[in-house]
Amino acid sequence: MTEKSQNAMWGGRFAAGPDAIMEAINASIAYDQRMAAQDIAGSRAHAAMLAAQGIITDSDADAIREGLLTVLSEIEGGTFQFSAALEDIHMNVEARLKELIGEPAGRLHTGRSRNDQVATDFKLWVRDQMDAAIAGCEALQRALLTQAEAGADWVMPGFTHLQTAQPVTWGHHMMAYVEMLGRDVGRFRDARARLNESPLGAAALAGTGFAIDRDMTAQALGFDRPTANSLDSVADRDFALEFLGAATICAMHLSRFAEELVIWSSAQFRFVALSDRFSTGSSIMPQKKNPDAAELIRAKIGRILGAQVALLTVMKGLPLAYSKDMQEDKEQTFDAADSLMLALAAMEGMVKDMTANRESLAAAAGSGFSTATDLADWLVREAGLPFRDAHHATGALVALAESKGCDLPDLTLADMKDVNDAITDDVFNVLGVDNSVASRTSYGGTAPVRVREQVARWRDILG
Ligand code: ARG
Repeated sequence: MTEKSQNAMWGGRFAAGPDAIMEAINASIAYDQRMAAQDIAGSRAHAAMLAAQGIITDSDADAIREGLLTVLSEIEGGTFQFSAALEDIHMNVEARLKELIGEPAGRLHTGRSRNDQVATDFKLWVRDQMDAAIAGCEALQRALLTQAEAGADWVMPGFTHLQTAQPVTWGHHMMAYVEMLGRDVGRFRDARARLNESPLGAAALAGTGFAIDRDMTAQALGFDRPTANSLDSVADRDFALEFLGAATICAMHLSRFAEELVIWSSAQFRFVALSDRFSTGSSIMPQKKNPDAAELIRAKIGRILGAQVALLTVMKGLPLAYSKDMQEDKEQTFDAADSLMLALAAMEGMVKDMTANRESLAAAAGSGFSTATDLADWLVREAGLPFRDAHHATGALVALAESKGCDLPDLTLADMKDVNDAITDDVFNVLGVDNSVASRTSYGGTAPVRVREQVARWRDILG
């Protein structure tokens, strides 16, 4: 029976190789290979800096750079042989580099550790995801703006408690999500600014005695500056938590919109028709067109929030600095990022394709006594009633309409006068939904004129 060989990277003090189960629990290569490009970028920056500082020779740095480019092309070309025995992406890359260029490969790890290496790689990866999330949010905002512009004056019911409240415009409803996504973008940007300090050169935890230039590597990797505390540099994962937090909130927004689309596309509402491209059929009920994309978007928050809770739980109570627990940071963050990007793209596709049913929206807007508030406001404005009395009188008129099985504009002037003698014919002007929304011109209100201003403002912002 042959003993498993020692690990080539750290096996110096070991007499035997790891148990198969040890290897299985220890290896992260199955998922952290997704950081290959970041790992190689970090190593290239580090090698160039070591040469610039005279820590390694220029010819070693050249060999390392060329070798790393070969490794990257092997990985991108799908020919690279990943090995679980080599644990993670860092050691897989370095081992292959050694096969390719020999001895200079062993000089690459001078003045750094896998601890600052993994923090650097993961930050670079998360930073890319923040940029992708921003782009995804903005693409969805643009699709919403197109909907809002087309339907700036289309009336629909506005809801509170999912009960008809007051008429609003389709454009206004679309623009509500533009605002939410704008804040999501802000959160990703804020988090990106805080993330953007380079941990590279913090080494294992204490810094290094080699005369490294951390500003140089930070700059090469697009960081604003190096991190200021080496312990914090290798122990920090709050950049990933911030990303997951922003992703969770964004996914919550998408989930709410998705739920509205599920409701709106039902036969009972018919507010929107989703395209065939973003719907599925039923294998048993031929009439069905299911809003599966919307339902899946509604659900994605589960795994995104799950990733946030999982990582927060992993990090909680960890003493400084690095602990292997932290290897559990990546897999679920990757999954959460994938889920968010997919949800954003699917929502963008659905919004681009969907058709609002203007007639159904208008019919629903006028039902459910949606202009009762307009009537009460009219009584205050034109008849001088205190709002509470106007509210009461309007309630009586709603009850009357309900008993007659009609809507407020269908009541006669005589009906109205029975309840309050001060009511005149003029009241009918405010009972129509178009007039109702047109009157709501306060800043941020639903009036088409205000909606169009917001569309223009956002077009400006999005460029
Ligand atoms: N694969 C490891 C991780 O993801 C890299 C860092 C390993 N560091 C160490 N001291 N064992 O966390």
